[in-house]
Amino acid sequence: MRGLAGKTAIVTGGGGGIGREICLRLTQEEMHVGVFDKNADAAKATADAVAAAGGKAAPYAIDITDYAAVGTAVAAFEAEAGPVDVLVNNAGWDKFAYFLATEPPLWDQLIAINLQGPINLHHIVLKGMDARKRGRVVNIASDAGRVGSSMEAVYSACKGGIIAFTKTMAREMARAGVTLNVVCPGPTETPLLSTFLEGPQGQRVYEGLKRSIPLGRLGRPDDIPGIVAFLASDDAAFMTGQVISVSGGLTMNG
Ligand SMILES: NC(=O)c1ccc[n+]([C@@H]2O[C@H](COP(=O)([O-])OP(=O)(O)OC[C@H]3O[C@@H](n4cnc5c(N)ncnc54)[C@H](O)[C@@H]3O)[C@@H](O)[C@H]2O)c1
Repeated sequence: MRGLAGKTAIVTGGGGGIGREICLRLTQEEMHVGVFDKNADAAKATADAVAAAGGKAAPYAIDITDYAAVGTAVAAFEAEAGPVDVLVNNAGWDKFAYFLATEPPLWDQLIAINLQGPINLHHIVLKGMDARKRGRVVNIASDAGRVGSSMEAVYSACKGGIIAFTKTMAREMARAGVTLNVVCPGPTETPLLSTFLEGPQGQRVYEGLKRSIPLGRLGRPDDIPGIVAFLASDDAAFMTGQVISVSGGLTMNG
């Protein structure tokens, strides 16, 4: 992919299923990656896997809901690797339940992780990109934010919020030459999805999902990094404010 080698990237949730694959792919493209994850062991495991493959990555144990801590971690990464060229907001979390069976403390947690956290990262990282007049942001939302998803009401609201936020920031940052785009995975086999599929109806839901996906299977974490690398590259320089699903055709829009 053109224009990635020698650049820097922060990947939030880089210790998780999709985030780890994104870190591996960006470092294969010779980028220097900051693995931001609140799970310190997972962040380190990703950084170790990158190092074993000959790439450059540094782990940061960071909770993206803590604005001050994000600022400190971004400064530490920039001191080590240089200014952030690419930001991938990938960290996310959900607890599957029908909305009417949930209570406000769960909504607060979902909003903090899936909406406030990425907003924190944008506020801190985009200032530097604005001053440097270059940068790329790729936000990992979800098809739940485009088309809705039962048992994911507040999560879907956050992901839909991220889509709208990205489009607005793409407009605000265009004059600085900074682009922002969204990738929406469909159901993808990661620890996040297994918490859902472990339930009593799990296997039935899994088979039903497989049947309804035109390409005949659920997503794998390594289905996502290709589009992330593309959107971060010079090949996507004229794309901004766009939303792209990677869902095996489960969702299609004109
Ligand atoms: N797996 C799917 O089916 C699916 C579908 C659509 C969208 N997504 C989105 O893809 C992204 C990655 O999800 P995944 O499936 O790889 O999940 P995952 O649970 O495997 O990984 C998520 C990672 O984010 C980290 N994280 C969670 N809260 C954090 C916080 N407050 N601060 C820092 N790190 C935090 C976790 O420690 C974990 O390592 C998420 O944004 C998710 O919403 C996943």
